[in-house]
Amino acid sequence: MTDYKTRHKLFSTMRRAEPYSNEQLHLPPHLRPSRDATSSVTLRDDTSGKEWSLPVLRGTQGPPVIDIGDLYKNSGYFTYDPGYISTASCHSALTFIDGDEGLLMHRGYRIEELARHSDYPEVCYLLWFGELPNKRQKERFLRALTYHTMVHEQVISFFRGFRRDAHPMAILVGVVGAIASFYTDKEYDFSSDDGRWVAVSRMLAKMPTIAAMAYKYAIGQPFIYPRNDLSYAENFLYMMFSTPCEPWKISDNQVRAMDQLLILHADHEQNASTSTVRLAGSSGAHPFACIASGIASLWGKAHGGANEAVLTMLEEIGNKEHIDTFLAKARDKDDPFRLMGFGHRVYKNRDPRAEVLRNICMDVLKERNRGRPDPLLELAQELEARALKDSYFIERHLFPNVDFYSGILLRALGFPTAMFTVFFAVARTVGWIAQWKEMTEDTSNKINRPRQLYLGEKERPFVPLEQRDSHKTETKVPPVHHKSPAPAK
Ligand code: ACO
Repeated sequence: MTDYKTRHKLFSTMRRAEPYSNEQLHLPPHLRPSRDATSSVTLRDDTSGKEWSLPVLRGTQGPPVIDIGDLYKNSGYFTYDPGYISTASCHSALTFIDGDEGLLMHRGYRIEELARHSDYPEVCYLLWFGELPNKRQKERFLRALTYHTMVHEQVISFFRGFRRDAHPMAILVGVVGAIASFYTDKEYDFSSDDGRWVAVSRMLAKMPTIAAMAYKYAIGQPFIYPRNDLSYAENFLYMMFSTPCEPWKISDNQVRAMDQLLILHADHEQNASTSTVRLAGSSGAHPFACIASGIASLWGKAHGGANEAVLTMLEEIGNKEHIDTFLAKARDKDDPFRLMGFGHRVYKNRDPRAEVLRNICMDVLKERNRGRPDPLLELAQELEARALKDSYFIERHLFPNVDFYSGILLRALGFPTAMFTVFFAVARTVGWIAQWKEMTEDTSNKINRPRQLYLGEKERPFVPLEQRDSHKTETKVPPVHHKSPAPAK
């Protein structure tokens, strides 16, 4: 086994010799990035008149990409792109999004088709191996997902260390990171195919168990062990909602809805949490620790926390009469309020996942409410209809995103709001781990290290304590005995 340092030294030598050497990429020839010899972009410094020719890379789909890898070395310039609005941070063959067309594909298959005709384990297989499985491959994959669902009994003691009112996302970040200690670098070489398989099979199989344990811990019910006779989606619901006291039953319709919900959240190319996983992984960190970093990033309400925020917002709006007041708040630049579940960094036309979700959501609610209207769904639909007619939202291309309906659907399936983002983390684990695999297989991978535009003080002489002006520093450190904030409800 090549040790980590030697491997990385090797990578950096390769990277210098040829930044995107095709031979080193584990991609079939038709998926490799090509450097169009006739295509380049010229950058001109208007002060000195110097010019630099920058090569243009072409992927299989999507806009051409200017390769600026050598820009600093050749010109002394960095580029500035906070939020990565125009920056491709890696190459990938997993997921393609065309935000203007509202298109999302995994390995070339449209998300709508996958949601309609496939199931979540198949989509996991597709993301991991690159192709949909045949019957035999699917059986073997399902066995791996089924026979690794239990966690080590010692993991239970991690849970006991959390406050009983801890947010389940806090528990998830902690426990997933801690599970790295059960799969040590000494036992597993995560840079090998075998080691990577251990990482994906264990992660995928155990995430629903850990997520359900986080929920059971919070409500004080006993942990429910997985059942090998249930599908991935049904087993997750079973561990969440069954108790040892009575038989548990759920309709096929609801199990299918859960499975489709998992598919719709499986991967979404280089979003904040996935980029976090890649960034953590680029240093050679343990795969479970990388996934824990992705969970932390997903937690934010501008990302995976949005579905929780949508429900809170709908409850705050309360009824249709208040919709206009909230739309006015969303338009007001002095008001921090945003219409949660609206807008997307990439989709500027429609989020294809939101459309599939709306239909699943209506089906499940119809079944659960036995045909009676659901006030929250009706409020959401009215809010959507009015926002889509509002010039503020039209001009800014703000449409419902996946989170707008996922919260309502999760609630209909019995999930409490605090578990929404946990569900998202379970579903997205396959995307994170497949992106991590793709990155670790790429021998041109370098540790990710962005640059910065420094705006701080220039060098200045050190001032001894007795000569410092106390007014400047007085208010910066809070007093030791200030009152702790009340715990979040
Ligand atoms: N409500 C009101 N105004 C909005 C909203 C919104 N939900 N989203 C964007 N805008 C406005 C902005 O104020 C800005 O207006 P301006 O041009 O007058 O300044 C304009 O639309 C562009 O918005 P940006 O914030 O620049 O767009 P960006 O691509 O950076 O942000 C984001 C995308 C974070 C998703 C944003 O739309 C948002 O905060 N939405 C609500 C939170 C949400 O639903 N997040 C889930 C995203 S999907 C996911 O992570 C799975």
